[in-house]
Amino acid sequence: MDVLIVGAGAIGAASAWRCAQRGLTVTLVDPEPGRGAWHTAAGMLAPITELHYTETPLLTLNLDSLARYASFAAEVSEESGLPTGYRETGTVAVAWDGADLAALRDLHAFAQRLGARAELITGRELRTLEPAVAPGLPGALFAPGDHQVDPRLLHAALLEAGRRRGVQTVLSNASIVTDGARVTGARLSDGTVCSAGTVVLAAGCWSASIDGLPYGTAPPIRPVKGQTLRLRLPGPPLLEHVVRGAVKGTPIYIVPRADGRLVVGASTEEAGFDRSPRAGAVYELLRDAQSLVPELGEAVLDEVCTGLRPGSPDNAPLVGAGVLDGLVLATGHYRNGILLTPVTADGVAALITYGALPEVLAPFAPNRFADVNGSIERHLITNGGGT
Ligand code: GLY
Repeated sequence: MDVLIVGAGAIGAASAWRCAQRGLTVTLVDPEPGRGAWHTAAGMLAPITELHYTETPLLTLNLDSLARYASFAAEVSEESGLPTGYRETGTVAVAWDGADLAALRDLHAFAQRLGARAELITGRELRTLEPAVAPGLPGALFAPGDHQVDPRLLHAALLEAGRRRGVQTVLSNASIVTDGARVTGARLSDGTVCSAGTVVLAAGCWSASIDGLPYGTAPPIRPVKGQTLRLRLPGPPLLEHVVRGAVKGTPIYIVPRADGRLVVGASTEEAGFDRSPRAGAVYELLRDAQSLVPELGEAVLDEVCTGLRPGSPDNAPLVGAGVLDGLVLATGHYRNGILLTPVTADGVAALITYGALPEVLAPFAPNRFADVNGSIERHLITNGGGT
């Protein structure tokens, strides 16, 4: 085959579909696609309201991917016959108190300097925009371009679009097969070796622990646990926009779906590969969501969901050629995997087809961590092997 993609999450499924559209033969390999971070993600497409001051290089990439979303979602739906839940709702980041409002003013000035769309609104304007938000809040930042998609619908549509283009999905673990410094394919759980012109590593938080990668070549990815809740309220939808905030410093967001269901998220926990739901996180999410939108106290709690974000040392993804020939990385998207799905898939397909990544992905080449990998390798050699 031309391309074997390890990991059938949103990034892997979208990359497979884009590659197949270009006439490549593609296989997706994943032991359990449903464990991917996409299954827990709320699907906020929020470059502005999720902006962190230390992550400005990422903003350009996030805005680029957001600009692709409307046509990406339409094309996935057209090719799959399935909805994606893409909605141009806009987002309000509400201030909990005066200190929050000052922080939102800073964010507004910062976003404006970077040319991003955002508007400060008063508490009164906030209540007009979203009457269900708690009274008395001092104001908000409105980002009319921060939208949402339903990751579960999107993922199903991507798999179906890929299937219709001939993508094969194999439920199996995979270990990387090399020939010298070249990756030549992957070995499945039943021992079958699949040869491929290119192997794409898109295994999310498991990308560093795939068997078969030589010492020093695994990407520096770690799991960062997140919990989300699915709520439901009878009657008309409670909110029109995504609502975010920080209640006494703890971030919280509420993402309203078109049918009235709501996704509340998310905890951020360094807990290794543990995916068990933590009672305290559920309590804090419900408490803070209800502080922002009191009526949520009446909602039905449909689901508690736990996933593992693929964190990288600088919170930005690794997209591009790996240190081994024949290997492409598409991993480490941390909090922005769903937002960055279109640009990553386009980039992977362009790299494999034409040998070049779009310019906007250049700062996210995996080799920016060559020193990290080098030190890991040196450490392992010095210590006579590793775990
Ligand atoms: N992007 C939302 C989250 O990571 O919780």
